[in-house]
Amino acid sequence: MKKITKAVFPVAGLGSRFLPATKASPKEMMPVVDKPLIQYAVEEAVAAGITDMVFITGRNKRAIEDHFDKAYELEAELAAHNKDELLSLVQEVIPSHINCIYIRQSEPLGLGHAVLCARPVIQDEPFAVILADDLMDGYPPIIKQMTDVFRQHQCSVLAVQDVPRLKTRQYGIVGSVPLTNDLEQVNAIVEKPKPEDAPSTIAVVGRYILTPRIFDYLEKVQAGTGGEIQLTDGIAALMQEEKMLAYRFKGTRYDCGSKQGYLQAQVAFGLMHPELCAEFAAYLNSLSLDDCCRGA
Ligand code: UTP
Repeated sequence: MKKITKAVFPVAGLGSRFLPATKASPKEMMPVVDKPLIQYAVEEAVAAGITDMVFITGRNKRAIEDHFDKAYELEAELAAHNKDELLSLVQEVIPSHINCIYIRQSEPLGLGHAVLCARPVIQDEPFAVILADDLMDGYPPIIKQMTDVFRQHQCSVLAVQDVPRLKTRQYGIVGSVPLTNDLEQVNAIVEKPKPEDAPSTIAVVGRYILTPRIFDYLEKVQAGTGGEIQLTDGIAALMQEEKMLAYRFKGTRYDCGSKQGYLQAQVAFGLMHPELCAEFAAYLNSLSLDDCCRGA
């Protein structure tokens, strides 16, 4: 019986949809309320019992390494001013039993290539892939729900949700047979199909459990949609050989790779924040439609 102890966080993308914010700092360091996206993602993994965090980094990713490292000067400064609560916040960014491993993706050749870069660390174990720009709100945390599915079925698991047919072009879309209310057996997967070509409206989102056999297929994948080495193409090949499940997670996904999703996440997490919620809700209530689209 295999257990998931390692998670891969591909953070080497260009983040071009958020330029100029991502010109000098990574998209995954953008905050939602008071925490960067990558910290939410790591906390989700920790809650699933994962202990080894493998970051696939690119240019401008020093900020991520620094975020999960000890900040000597800042900690000394906070201690000197008796700011104990803030000091704990800084020191508890990552629990001490967690290992952080950084691998450089020399060029952003695509998500499939980024995952392949993790092979030397993952070796022969099943592992999680977490895209931090998909911010998830759910209990149990989504990756924990998925490791539970893995424990039972011992095969690859893709997080999925239904999307409007007009949006299939933004996702990997699966063809599948329902097994239970929340599980489907996957028999096809297509990257960013046109609505008329999509095998369904069931879209893969940024959480995966994969078996290590995926690496053999990713080695062989040629650049596909958008000139990138697509994870979807590796998954399509793996699916021919091994059972693969699509899991309808319980929770809400915020697509923080898009401006619309990122703004929605700020509002949702602001309304959930114990210190902010009451005043923020009152502010939102006070807004009138006259305030909308002033720049349009
Ligand atoms: P996206 O498709 O969102 O691309 O990547 P991006 O470059 O980050 O953002 P845009 O589209 O230019 O705005 C999905 C995930 O895969 C990672 C990204 O960091 C993101 O977490 N990725 C993508 C890599 O790590 N390497 C790559 O070569 C491509």
